[in-house]
Amino acid sequence: MLRDVSTPTGPRAVTAVAPAKINLHLAVGDVRADGFHELVTVYRAVDLWEEVTVAIEAAGPDDETAGSEDDVAGPDDDVTVAVSGPGADQVPTDRTNLAARAVDLLREEVGSYARIAIRIRKGVPVAGGMAGGSADAAAALVATDRLLGLGLSRAELEQRGSRLGSDVPFCIRGGTALGTGRGEELATLLHARGEQHVVVALAAGGLSTPVVFGELDRLRAERGAAEQGDGRAVPRAGGTERLVQALAGDDPAAVAALLVNDMEPAALSLMPALRRTLRAGREAGALGGMVSGSGPTCLFFCADREHAIAVAAEISESGVAREVRITSGPVGGARITSDATGD
Ligand code: C5P
Repeated sequence: MLRDVSTPTGPRAVTAVAPAKINLHLAVGDVRADGFHELVTVYRAVDLWEEVTVAIEAAGPDDETAGSEDDVAGPDDDVTVAVSGPGADQVPTDRTNLAARAVDLLREEVGSYARIAIRIRKGVPVAGGMAGGSADAAAALVATDRLLGLGLSRAELEQRGSRLGSDVPFCIRGGTALGTGRGEELATLLHARGEQHVVVALAAGGLSTPVVFGELDRLRAERGAAEQGDGRAVPRAGGTERLVQALAGDDPAAVAALLVNDMEPAALSLMPALRRTLRAGREAGALGGMVSGSGPTCLFFCADREHAIAVAAEISESGVAREVRITSGPVGGARITSDATGD
């Protein structure tokens, strides 16, 4: 690891990355008293990454490494956020940014007055149902923990993450995991190691997660809900057992046959054009296709990388997607990639 030990009071920065998630199984229960929906989901981390750098620009009066007290930032300007990469203009750069909230959470915990500059490089579609914002929070937590020398365990970081968003703990953990509660209670699926090659079709525009949950509630109220759908009723996913078994094997077709997303009817209702995208993926020969989480990104599961390249080319040619990418998983969770703290 590269460390800048030459100037312990000079610029200090830590960079971390965190992966996108997909949900291979997403069963949505009824809305709870706190407004969240009870979920049973099989999360998988895939090889698309958010990169977050947190840098101390100046420190507070209690810090021996601080400059003069004049260097201490006011409450409004002590965290700055800069975002680059695809879709950067749609990401907030104020205190509502999830990475800024992650930094604030840990700064408050240690009573730090450090003025922190956050740089985010987007690698995950914005508002695409792949937890791009949650990955920012995950990477920011891991990086800020190191920057401020907190020494929190992974479990402690996940616990902090669950306060910022339902998917944040998984973006810290990575791999493949069963998520319950509102998605934040995780059990790693150690045997689910079979690799997936996935074509990611990005839509023009995004979908807001709460709006899609609301649409699902509305559709269920209007048409009724049924176990694995009949007629007009909105389907409800069954258990995860068969999928978990299939994930332990090496047959991508067996996995593809068991993919399920309860949110798909709601995403399709809000963005009917996604039907064409799903059809294009099927016609391109994908083993299975689905809307990713709350959408509008669509995922197409393939036999191997070569197959994914061929399917991606056909979907791209059909013109149904704004952009097409290829990814694979499982990959690990959030990790530090560069540490110039000098510690
Ligand atoms: O947890 P997160 O901040 O990502 O959730 C965003 C919104 O999505 C929540 O405010 C809620 O409206 C909805 N949501 C939900 N049930 C979940 C997770 C999220 O209704 N399990």
